[in-house]
Amino acid sequence: MKTERILVTGGTGYIGSHTVVELQQAGYPVVIIDNLSNSDRAVLDGIERITGIRPDFVEADCTDLNALKDLFAKYPDIKGIINFAASKAVGESMHKPILYYRNNLNTLMNLLDLMEPNGVKGIVFSSSCTVYGEPDVNPVTEESPIKKATSPYGNTKQISEEIITDVINAGASFKSVILRYFNPVGAHPTAEIGELPNGVPQNLIPYLTQTAMGIRKELSVFGDDYNTPDGSCIRDYIDVVDLAKAHVIAVERMLQDKSEEKIEIFNLGTGRGVSVLELIAAFERATGVKVPHKIVGRRAGDIEKVWANPARANDVLGWTAATPLDDTMRSAWAWQCKLRERGIM
Ligand code: NAD
Ligand code: WQD
Repeated sequence: MKTERILVTGGTGYIGSHTVVELQQAGYPVVIIDNLSNSDRAVLDGIERITGIRPDFVEADCTDLNALKDLFAKYPDIKGIINFAASKAVGESMHKPILYYRNNLNTLMNLLDLMEPNGVKGIVFSSSCTVYGEPDVNPVTEESPIKKATSPYGNTKQISEEIITDVINAGASFKSVILRYFNPVGAHPTAEIGELPNGVPQNLIPYLTQTAMGIRKELSVFGDDYNTPDGSCIRDYIDVVDLAKAHVIAVERMLQDKSEEKIEIFNLGTGRGVSVLELIAAFERATGVKVPHKIVGRRAGDIEKVWANPARANDVLGWTAATPLDDTMRSAWAWQCKLRERGIM
C-alpha cells in the first residue's frame, strides 16, 4: 500500500466510483467525500466487492469549507485530490443556474484554498469536451478554440479551468491536471458499479439500455438530417474504466513531479467518432438485444459532431482508450441487467 492518500470528491458517483477502484487497485489509500446528491451509499459495497477494500467515506458537502477543513485534519496524509463533485445535468442548469455556479465553483475554490495549508501536491479536475462547443474542425486538440458556453453547466467548466489557471499562475505551490472527457459510457466489467441515472435519462446510453430492457418503449434518435455520413450526430464514446485509469496516471504524474509544467490539459477520448445510429447497431451486435428506435426531430442545442484527438494523452501520459466499443456495450448492458436483478430498474 502506498502512503499518499487521494481525496476523491464525488467518489460515489459514476466516474468517481470507477476511479476509486483503479486507485485502490494501484495501491493508493482513498478517502471519498460525497454529499450523495446524485449517488447512493451502496456504491461503497460495489467498490469493496471489486477491490476487497472499503474506501474511507465522509458524507459531506464540498461547498462546506468547515467540513473540508475537518476532513483534512482527520486525514493529514492526503497528497492528491481528484475533483469529480459537481452538478452535471445540462438541461437542469438552464433552469437553476445559481445552483450550478454555486455548487461547481464553490466546491473547486474551497479545495484550491485548502491545498497549500494541507501540503497537497496536485489536483485533477474533471472538465469536458463541452468547452469546444461545435468545433470548426474535428478531431479537436487541446489547442482547438474554446467556444462560448451554451449552458451554465458548460460555463462552470470553462470558468473552473480559468480559476485553476489563475491560481496556479499566482504562484500556488501545487500542480493541476485538467482532463477534458468526451462521452463516458459503459460500466465496470464486473457489473458491480455503473451509472445510476436519476429519473428519465437524458443521455444516450442509459436511455438505450433502459429501452432494451423494456423500461422505455422506444429510443428517440434526435435527428437524421445532420451533415454526417448517416445524418445522426457523432460523438467520441469512451469506456468509463479507460477514463478512470487516466486519473491514476494523472495523479501519479503530479505526486512524483514527472512534469515540469504546473498545469496540463488533456483530451480523454478514443479518437473515433461514432454516430447515434452506429452506436445502436454496435449495441445490438455486441449484446444480441434489439433496441426499438425511431427518428425524431433534432434536440435543441445539440452539437453536430465532435471527437477527440487524444495524441497528447497517448504520448505524454502513455494512456490509450483501449477497450473495444463492443466490450463497452456489453458492460453497459450487464450493468442494466444487474440493476434489474437488484430490483432498482
Ligand atoms: P455523478 O453525478 O455520477 O458524480 C458526481 C458526484 O458528486 C455524485 O456522487 C454527487 O453526489 C457528488 N456531488 C455533487 N455535488 C457535490 C458537493 N457539493 N459535495 C459533495 N459531493 C457532491 O457525475 P459523473 O458523471 O461521475 O461526473 C463526474 C464529473 O465529471 C463531474 O464534474 C462532471 O461534470 C464531469 N463530466 C462528466 C461527464 C459525463 O458525461 N458523465 C462528461 C464530462 C465531464
Ligand atoms: C449523445 C448523442 C444526442 C439521447 C452531454 C453533455 C456534455 C457532456 C457529455 C458533461 C447526441 C443523442 C441522446 C436520446 C439521442 N457532459 N441522443 N437520443 O449531448 O453529447 O453531451 O454529455 O460534461 O456536456 O451535454 O451526450 O448522451 O446526451 O447525447 O439521439 O435519447 O445521442 O442527440 O447526439 P451529449 P448525450
